[in-house]
Amino acid sequence: MVDWAWGLCLCLTAIITVTAQQTGQHSDWPRWCGTVYQPRYPHFDPGGQTLPPTPAPGAPLLHVQSQPRYSLYLDSEQYDEFIVNAGMSKTPSVNTTGGLFRFPLTLLKPALSPIRVVIYGAPKNGTPTFFTVATTLLYLLYKPTGSVTRIDNLHGCLYFSSSLINPTFAPFFPYGFYASHDNFLRLNDTSVIDAYSALGFNAMTPLTTFDDSSYIVTYLSTSAQRRLLRFMYSLREGYKNLSYVRANILAAHDAPAGLFAYWSADEPDGWQEEPFLSPQQAYGTIRAVDPYRPVSCNATYGECVCDNCEGTVWDVTVVFNPQSFHGEGYWLGDPSVEESLIMVSLAVNDGAKGVISWVWPTSEVLAVAHGRSAGMLAGNEVVGFVVVDAAGWAVAGKMLVSVVNGGYVDIEGGVTVLVPNATIIESTPWGSVRWKLEAGKLSVPLLPALATNLVIMDLGG
Ligand SMILES: *[C@@H]1O[C@H](CO)[C@@H](O)[C@H](O)[C@H]1NC(C)=O
Ligand SMILES: *[C@@H]1O[C@H](CO)[C@@H](O)[C@H](O)[C@H]1NC(C)=O
Ligand SMILES: *[C@@H]1O[C@H](CO)[C@@H](O)[C@H](O)[C@H]1NC(C)=O
Ligand SMILES: *[C@@H]1O[C@H](CO)[C@@H](O)[C@H](O)[C@H]1NC(C)=O
Ligand SMILES: *[C@@H]1O[C@H](CO)[C@@H](O)[C@H](O)[C@H]1NC(C)=O
Repeated sequence: MVDWAWGLCLCLTAIITVTAQQTGQHSDWPRWCGTVYQPRYPHFDPGGQTLPPTPAPGAPLLHVQSQPRYSLYLDSEQYDEFIVNAGMSKTPSVNTTGGLFRFPLTLLKPALSPIRVVIYGAPKNGTPTFFTVATTLLYLLYKPTGSVTRIDNLHGCLYFSSSLINPTFAPFFPYGFYASHDNFLRLNDTSVIDAYSALGFNAMTPLTTFDDSSYIVTYLSTSAQRRLLRFMYSLREGYKNLSYVRANILAAHDAPAGLFAYWSADEPDGWQEEPFLSPQQAYGTIRAVDPYRPVSCNATYGECVCDNCEGTVWDVTVVFNPQSFHGEGYWLGDPSVEESLIMVSLAVNDGAKGVISWVWPTSEVLAVAHGRSAGMLAGNEVVGFVVVDAAGWAVAGKMLVSVVNGGYVDIEGGVTVLVPNATIIESTPWGSVRWKLEAGKLSVPLLPALATNLVIMDLGG
């Protein structure tokens, strides 16, 4: 077994270049994501698929990856954690994922661009450096106004802070709709926005801009204080025009409280022009003006309606986009309430960290059903669970359970972990809460913010 030492090295450098790429064949036919969708065209293999790399000779090899715990830090914070995954090796001591290493941020100066970090590892016996892995860290000046959103790279969820509501980061599960301009926002009526949020939604992606709907977008920008409705600003109409992107980010980034993210491109892999380059350039333009909020849709992932059915992918986090509409010659009917709620539940079980349906206004039954679902999923009782992580191991008649609240707020109303066959709590080697074990359920009435707990139980039989 080899014992490893880990080190960090910091350098300031510029980031990433991407080359232009065209995809597939028959580019003169109307295609979406490379495939034809109208009946008069023949079926063909669109080509352009990406394939997994061929395995390296001598595998398994050490595969080390690293990322800061959060997508950004503010200079009001003292420590970062780096997540280090060192997988697939033959030496068990390095075959670990999700290892966390604390690092004092006070050694750094806040900057608007990412700081390049190189993590190196070497066997402790003193042989020269064995490998390095590069990542970046965003360390920004504290912002006394407006909002900041960051991604938890360990659990994949969003954290939101706003000087007007709550200046500390709290978990945020966005739940709402893309809101159409034509028969909703164009009405220029704040009471329909209030009615939307009264149904239980906490998020909206308005399909309009400051230029087209200044009164409404300004209302959304400031409304977070009153009704906890937050919005994602859309650049879909002009993400390939970087002057347009820059002008819009300059208008949006000072939104006092309500802005939580940007939507850079709509199904960029559907359009056949520069599907990889355009979103990456829009991303760079957005981040250069506003590094304080995430941008949905990166250059790796687009969203090809249901070809991939993964929904929009954030900088990292997955937000699920269920269908709540019909028509356009392709979608025969609305999903039922049951279908809608099952889609949302499955997506959440599968790790979705937000739900934005297409499109508002929707039918009255779907509006009410999604509103109730939003009130439940995005509400205080449940949002905390997005940050609770539990794992268990059973060995020789005993079971160890680890329960972590990765969030910055206490989880009230009880946390329960199913522990079938456990009979009594033998010890609690870590954590200060008093666990109760009853009928195969390990529970605690309140799980404090950032609590880490280990519980060992005897197994019957
Ligand atoms: C690495 O760890 C995983 C999970 O514990 C295990 O399934 C796998 O066999 C290990 N691989 C090697 C090469 O040790
Ligand atoms: C929208 O309503 C506001 C408030 O009544 C008004 O000042 C503004 O001119 C209206 N905008 C449009 C485009 O009608
Ligand atoms: C790009 O956007 C700018 C700013 O909104 C606009 O003036 C210009 O006409 C746009 N260019 C094209 C080709 O649409
Ligand atoms: C896009 O996000 C995915 C998922 O986190 C990540 O694997 C990929 O590297 C990202 N692509 C870019 C260009 O940042
Ligand atoms: C519980 O005990 C039963 C009977 O011994 C066994 O089949 C089952 O696998 C156990 N479950 C767990 C989670 O240990």
